[in-house]
Amino acid sequence: MAKTKTTFYCQSCGANATKWIGKCPSCNEWNTYVEEVVPTGTDHNKWKSAATKETKAAKPRLITEIELESSPRIILPDEELNRVLGGGLVPGSLTLLGGEPGIGKSTLLLQLAVRLKNKKILYISGEESEQQVRMRAERIGKLESNCYILTETSTQNIFRQIEELKPEFVIVDSIQTLYSSVYESAPGTVSQIRGCAGELLRYSKETATPVLMIGHITKDGSIAGPKVLEHMVDTVLQFEGDRHHIYRIVRAVKNRFGSTAELGIYEMQGAGLTEVANPSQLLLSQRDAQLSGTAIACTLEGARPILIETQALVSTAVYGTPQRTTTGFDMRRLHILLAVLEKRCGFRLGTKDVFLNIAGGIRVEDPAIDLAVICSILSSSEDLSIDPMICFAGEVGLTGEIRPVNRIETRIKEAARLGFKKIFVSRYNLQGLDLKSEKTIEVIGVGKVEEVLQALFA
Ligand code: TYD
Ligand code: MG
Repeated sequence: MAKTKTTFYCQSCGANATKWIGKCPSCNEWNTYVEEVVPTGTDHNKWKSAATKETKAAKPRLITEIELESSPRIILPDEELNRVLGGGLVPGSLTLLGGEPGIGKSTLLLQLAVRLKNKKILYISGEESEQQVRMRAERIGKLESNCYILTETSTQNIFRQIEELKPEFVIVDSIQTLYSSVYESAPGTVSQIRGCAGELLRYSKETATPVLMIGHITKDGSIAGPKVLEHMVDTVLQFEGDRHHIYRIVRAVKNRFGSTAELGIYEMQGAGLTEVANPSQLLLSQRDAQLSGTAIACTLEGARPILIETQALVSTAVYGTPQRTTTGFDMRRLHILLAVLEKRCGFRLGTKDVFLNIAGGIRVEDPAIDLAVICSILSSSEDLSIDPMICFAGEVGLTGEIRPVNRIETRIKEAARLGFKKIFVSRYNLQGLDLKSEKTIEVIGVGKVEEVLQALFA
């Protein structure tokens, strides 16, 4: 009998220790260590395909002699996902889709599975029964593809079925439900997740079959289970959005075959997720009435410019410590911007509650939104509305200077296309900018926050 060895693993970050400890020294989480049995034998590789029976030893080769990929990418029936992946799915790649419960991960992948034609697809569900999957598929629409459903959680059984069926594309819902009999710990623990992902990785590389798997995320937003999972896979996609809003966003957090700057936007409807090809307009709310506390930012997500409305509410604090709440924007960034307004521009916001909301329920990381945030805060604080035909694109520095942002021409073009009359940008962005073609929009270069306020509210 093989001797067994146990190790304690942090269920949050995957660090290990020989004895139980209360606080993880690696991620500082409390009470996350769980004892797991690690197999001491070398038989980790349960996935043995015909191809690997005779082991091929790799030899060093000149880089110029290596043939380029012979099999082209698989173009998915989903434009947004194709773009996020960098132009389709690469054969033999392992992709992880993470997202909060109920956000629509299963819907997105099942939709993909039933719409992808001319490919044999295996959808492995460890969470739902066959009937439930079928019911969901009915909701999504026409079932015209070659999609097989397997409700199984043991990887040994799964690989047996895979060898028989020989699918061209495998979807796993979700990696946390799988278990491999090689590892003795419960499904969802670090060694199980790592082991099962390892088996899937080997399978996908050896047979050049793309595998897409769903991973749950913890409440702090990281993929549940080990960080190692993110290191193993080729691509990590994050599915996010507010469950109570209809918009959902897919972004690549890591991508070995493309850029991580791209973004896919979907709308959750009664019959599944529909792609939003032209997102700019959707994220602007009705703009007929002039209301104080809103400003439009021209941000860039990936290669696409998106105009987003920022809304602020500034009111007198009822309690001693004023409240600051944000949705879709970094709270620490808000604190910095408020400090800049207080110190550099002389606005007394220290005794005010400040609430900030990015309309549409999406999260924005582009620093170009800073200027709009500041303007919406002051607009609410002073109760003066900003002309809805004005938008902003600029980062705000700690000295109150407006810093230039990247790809300003793209932003100006999009703002002009949507009918905006004025855009405020950093003065330093204007150098070398050819504005002759922009006849409908006035580009205003500013150097300091005060100058913007002068121009807006004077
Ligand atoms: P689901 O894909 O089950 O989420 P996850 O796998 O990420 O946990 O999506 C669940 C939500 O999506 C659920 O609240 C209902 C909603 N939904 C729709 O609005 N329309 C649809 O067509 C489908 C299938 C789901
Ligand atoms: Mg699900």
